[in-house]
Amino acid sequence: MTATEVRIGMLGCGTVGSAVARMLADHGDDIERRAGVRLRITRVAVRDPSRERDVPLPAEIFTTDPGSIVDDPDVDVVVELLGGLEPARAILLRALAAGKPVVTANKELLAEAGKELFDAADGAGRDLRFEAAVAGGVPLIAPLKESLSGERVARVLGIVNGTTNYILTQMSERGSTFDEALADAQRLGYAEADPSADVDGFDAAAKCAILASLAFTTRVVAADVYREGIAGVTPQDIADASRLGYVVKLLAIAELEEGEVSARVHPAMIPSSHPLASVRDAFNAVFVEGATVGQLMFYGRGAGGGPTAVSVVGDLVAVARNLAFGGRAIGGTDVLDRRIRSMDHTTGQYYLNLHVEDRPGVLAEIAEAFGRNGVSIERVWQEGFGEEATLVFITHRAREGAFQDAVGELRTLDSVRAVASMLRVEGEE
Ligand SMILES: NC(=O)c1ccc[n+]([C@@H]2O[C@H](COP(=O)([O-])OP(=O)(O)OC[C@H]3O[C@@H](n4cnc5c(N)ncnc54)[C@H](OP(=O)(O)O)[C@@H]3O)[C@@H](O)[C@H]2O)c1
Repeated sequence: MTATEVRIGMLGCGTVGSAVARMLADHGDDIERRAGVRLRITRVAVRDPSRERDVPLPAEIFTTDPGSIVDDPDVDVVVELLGGLEPARAILLRALAAGKPVVTANKELLAEAGKELFDAADGAGRDLRFEAAVAGGVPLIAPLKESLSGERVARVLGIVNGTTNYILTQMSERGSTFDEALADAQRLGYAEADPSADVDGFDAAAKCAILASLAFTTRVVAADVYREGIAGVTPQDIADASRLGYVVKLLAIAELEEGEVSARVHPAMIPSSHPLASVRDAFNAVFVEGATVGQLMFYGRGAGGGPTAVSVVGDLVAVARNLAFGGRAIGGTDVLDRRIRSMDHTTGQYYLNLHVEDRPGVLAEIAEAFGRNGVSIERVWQEGFGEEATLVFITHRAREGAFQDAVGELRTLDSVRAVASMLRVEGEE
C-alpha cells in the first residue's frame, strides 16, 4: 500500500461484490474522507469473467484464480464475497498467513471454521471483519463486539432470515399456506429454487452461532445450535397465535444460563406487543438484552447487494485505517470455554393445542400429567364441544425436557385424541 491508497483484492463479484464495486466508485471521495486513505479495487476473482457485470472496473483486473489475488504483492486487503466453505476457507487462511487483513460476508464459513480463521488472524495480528455476515446491512457485529464491551449481555433474540420472515408474514397477514407463501417468495426472488438453507433454519443457525459467540465471548459453531425450520408451521398455528395475541416468528436465540450457552433456532410465538412482532416481510431485527443497558433493537435490511455492501465497505474502512495508521484488530481468540446447554435443559413457555374428549374429568387428567412432569399451567381454555372439543394451554416457564415428557404422556391418554399443535412462546415479560 501507499500512504494514500489501500488496494483491495475482491474475491467474488456477484450480488454483493458488484454493489461494493459500485459504492467505492460512486462515492469514493466521501469514503476516502472517512477512511483517511483511498480504497481501490485492484484485482477481482470470478468464476466466469465473460459474464456481463454492471461494475465500473476494467476487464483486465478480473481473474478466475482467487489464489493469485491473495498472493499478489499489490493487494493489501482481501475481501471475500464468494460464499460457501471452499475455496473460501483455504484462501482466507492463505491471505492471513501472508499478513493480509480479511473482510468477509460469509456466515456459513465463520459458523463452521471461525476458530481456525480467528486463530490465524490473531497469529498474523491482522483484522478479520465480518459485519455483513449477520443481518446484512444492519450494523450489529461492531456493536456486540466493540460498543457493548462493557455490558453483560444476557440474551439475544433475532429475526435473522428474511426469507422465512417473509413467508411467515404472508401466512399471518394473507392467510396463505406455507407452500403458497414459499412459492410467492421464490417468485419475488426472496427464496432460492432449493429453499432448504432458509426454511429449514440452516442459515439462521449459522448466524445464531456467530451471535452467541460474540454475545458471550465464546465459540459456538453451527453444529451446537438446536435447529427447527418453519415447514411444519400450519395456518392453524398462525390463527391460534393471532387469537391469543401472538405472532409466529422464526427466532435465533442465544442465552446465557448459569454460565452455559443455549443457542437455538425455531419458530416461536411472541406477544404482538413485542418489538420483534412488528418486523415484517424480509426485514431482519436483533433484540439484545443487557444487564445495564436494558433492551436494544437493531433493525433493517438483512440482505440485498446495496445494504450488504454498506457493511462490507464499513469493514474495509476500519481495516484500511488500521493498515494506514498502524492500528490493530481487537483480539478474537481469548474466548471463554463455555458449555453448550442441551435443548432439553433450556427453559421456556409453551403453547399446546389438544383435541380432547368432551367429558367431565378430562381437564383434571391432563393437568395431572403436566403436574407429574413439573410443568405448571399459566392459562387454559376450552373451545368447541363434543367431537370438536379443544383445550388450549399456555404453560409457565418449564424445562424443555419436562414439557416434552408431559406431551409424551398426554399422547397416551385415551381422553386426548390428538396433539394438534405445539409451539414455544418467547418474549413474555
Ligand atoms: N446477497 C445477499 O443479500 C447477502 C447478504 C449477506 C451476506 N451475503 C454473503 O455474501 C457472500 C456473497 O453473496 P452473493 O449474494 O454476492 O453471491 P453471488 O451473487 O452468488 O456471487 C458470488 C461471486 O463469487 C464468484 N465465485 C464463486 N465461486 C468462485 C470460485 N471458486 N472462484 C472464483 N469466483 C467464484 C462468482 O463468480 P461468477 O459471477 O462468475 O459466477 C460470483 O461473482 C456470501 O457469503 C453470502 O452468504 C450475501
